[in-house]
Amino acid sequence: MTAADESVLITTERSGLPAERGWWRKAVVYQIYPRSFADSNGDGMGDIRGIIEHLDHIEKLGVDVVWLSPVYRSPQDDNGYDISDYQDIDPMFGSLADLDELIAGLHARGIRLVMDLVVNHTSDEHPWFEASRSSKDDPKRDWYVWRPARPGTVPGEPGAEPNNWGSIFSGPAWEYDERTGEYYLHLFTRKQPDLNWENPQVRRAVHDMMRWWVARGVDGFRMDVINFISKVDGLPDGEVHDGALFGNGFPFFAGGPRLDEFLAEINREVFGDDEEAVRFLTVGEMPGSTVEQAQLYTDPARREVDMIFQFEHMEVDEGPGGKFDPRPIHLPELKRSLARWQDGLAENGWNSLYWSNHDRPRAVSRFGDDSEEYREVSAKALGTVLHLMRGTPYVYQGEELGMTNTVLERIEDFRDVESLNYFREATEVRGQDPAEVLPALGYAGRDNSRTPVQWDDSSNAGFTVGEPWIAVTPNYRMINAAAQVDDPASVFSHYRELVRLRHELPIVSDGTLTMHLLDDEQVFAYSRALGDEGLLVLANLSGRPARVDASALGWTEGEVVLTNLPDGVPSLGAEVALRPWEAVAWRRRHA
Ligand code: NOJ
Repeated sequence: MTAADESVLITTERSGLPAERGWWRKAVVYQIYPRSFADSNGDGMGDIRGIIEHLDHIEKLGVDVVWLSPVYRSPQDDNGYDISDYQDIDPMFGSLADLDELIAGLHARGIRLVMDLVVNHTSDEHPWFEASRSSKDDPKRDWYVWRPARPGTVPGEPGAEPNNWGSIFSGPAWEYDERTGEYYLHLFTRKQPDLNWENPQVRRAVHDMMRWWVARGVDGFRMDVINFISKVDGLPDGEVHDGALFGNGFPFFAGGPRLDEFLAEINREVFGDDEEAVRFLTVGEMPGSTVEQAQLYTDPARREVDMIFQFEHMEVDEGPGGKFDPRPIHLPELKRSLARWQDGLAENGWNSLYWSNHDRPRAVSRFGDDSEEYREVSAKALGTVLHLMRGTPYVYQGEELGMTNTVLERIEDFRDVESLNYFREATEVRGQDPAEVLPALGYAGRDNSRTPVQWDDSSNAGFTVGEPWIAVTPNYRMINAAAQVDDPASVFSHYRELVRLRHELPIVSDGTLTMHLLDDEQVFAYSRALGDEGLLVLANLSGRPARVDASALGWTEGEVVLTNLPDGVPSLGAEVALRPWEAVAWRRRHA
């Protein structure tokens, strides 16, 4: 028996949770962004003990898995997505002993823990990178992507970068390092150098590290930008789009030539044989992936990942200039996108389902209506539409409370490196007016979803007794967990019901899905079928009344399984009249 097999067996005994093949079809995942979840020691920063103190909240919601955003040692240039030690906890979050306690606490409640795996890049303060940059002869030199200046240029001068790629977080994707006179690649900030996955030693080091976490009892990994790990040979220049400062390297680093091989290798090396591997959950974050690619990545026979986070539906409000060039959402476009993914992964493979995470604005503010009048009902409508689809739903912390975007008006309000870098480049390099840039950052900026979880109506929303690292969203007296957890009419209770339905109704986890009324600009409609059962979901995702001819969809009767308004349910008999943001699910015994 190898060390890898041994660690898998330890885990199996540790979690003790039933794990039939595809168990995650019936599961709901809850994402914790630790610095904003709960602060146990008053330093203004969320921590692991804060999570342990709120395990009852997570258990009450009924979710099956927690995905924990990075808690590893990190200089925090990108809030922990820049890791300097993969096998230790950053002191600001606690200790390994705290993490062990968290794992035990979750397992005791029947909840699994999925760790964030950030291995496209490390921190520039990781010992691997410190060795790599120390000399061209260092044994770890080739662990990162080093290149000389473009021929005929002066190293270190603008335009001398090895190729024209832009970083995802503004500026060039290359940093000149005087010590050895070469450049290193960083697709994100200059403090996040890309690892060289072509080097088998790098891959082995990652596998060893993952096995170590498996041995500690973790139940899977969310793999950060994992489709960027295989770059096209030669790193060619990218196309420079109109108005862009840099070339687009995306076609050369996303979904690269050896990605499938690297994913299958991880799976084999870390999770053991097929029987053992079913116990884990792997979800690859894969920006820009197509349905066709996802069919391969998530094909169980290929053993790459169980599911991916695709980005297509996240792009429905992006203009030609990207996320900070927003445009209004057109519901038919959103529905067509989700329909394409439902259809594409219907036979083989599997979808993840999400409206939000730590990189996106709050769902209710973006896809719903966060006004006082419609906030709760629209949050519930969005939850209904998402959770009753085929796939594994992800709930981002606070989404179960209907938390909204925050107020980001002045550049001082922002903390996120992506927004700060973008602002600097837009105003200083492009010469844009701050008054033009700030509203877009305020709409799409990642800090919107990174404000503290609103636990109660005490100062700082019960998140900390100190000074929070980012201001609490001003509406916490109205929107908070204490007000919702025991209120059967709350957004929280609605989400809990959605989790229960996924657990209890096989049609929700396993049924087929057919989208309807794709051109309708107000109504999100689909039906599910399993054996002789049917489920119909109609949701008015607008602030105006809507009408649906359900009989044209073949539905004239059904038992209501879920609704989001307290008073009355529209009848299925005639044309269905839906009030603003009303969402209803009906079930019947024949498909
Ligand atoms: C995706 C993560 O979700 C995001 O927060 C991070 O900034 C980038 N990957 C880089 O790790």
